[in-house]
Amino acid sequence: MKQNIGNLLALYPTPAVIIGATVDGKPSWTLVAHIGIVAHDRLLVSLHASHYINEGIKESGRLSVNIVTEEFLPQADYCGIVSGNKMDKSGVFSLATGDGGTPMVGESPLTMECRVEDVYECNGFENFVCSVCHTYADDSVLGVDGKPDYARLRPVLFEMPTYRYLRTGDVIGHCTDAGRKYKENLAE
Ligand SMILES: Cc1cc2nc3c(=O)[nH]c(=O)nc-3n(C[C@H](O)[C@H](O)[C@H](O)COP(=O)(O)O)c2cc1C
Repeated sequence: MKQNIGNLLALYPTPAVIIGATVDGKPSWTLVAHIGIVAHDRLLVSLHASHYINEGIKESGRLSVNIVTEEFLPQADYCGIVSGNKMDKSGVFSLATGDGGTPMVGESPLTMECRVEDVYECNGFENFVCSVCHTYADDSVLGVDGKPDYARLRPVLFEMPTYRYLRTGDVIGHCTDAGRKYKENLAE
């Protein structure tokens, strides 16, 4: 039986990412998991307006989205509990720089360098709608077809209700295969 557990926002898990931007001339890093896709060429990053990194993003109009993996989860988690308002986080990661000049996490095997196209303010959050300018992927996470292989990448996922990180699971099938089979059975 399904219970009504209130109006809990339960759309999890979501990928954990490190947002990188230049603030006051230095790189800064913030852990974010409220992130989404709003069009085939647009993603959304939801950042509370009080965060240190927001001013840098608004000033430069650029940010990087760095997929978090287990290898650097302690540093990523640190960037989710410590604010640049109080501590300099510029040295937490090795610095890589995108073609557009955006700071990127050297440890992350997959990074998107993004341009801010719009900001949607909602209940104290600044939601940055971004286009992807360049995507950088380590060879180790690319498949033979040259596309990111998420089974190799193993992005760390986040869920809010119990505030935990999850490991990415197994591949259970190719999209549309199961649906096609189901459709065929209906037609019989
Ligand atoms: C697992 C996790 C996920 C988080 N996700 C978000 C998020 O989606 N949006 C947000 O505004 N803050 C999020 N935070 C909080 C910020 O990362 C945190 O307040 C950080 O210290 C802000 O850094 P800054 O002030 O240097 O920008 C998250 C923290 C953790 C630990």
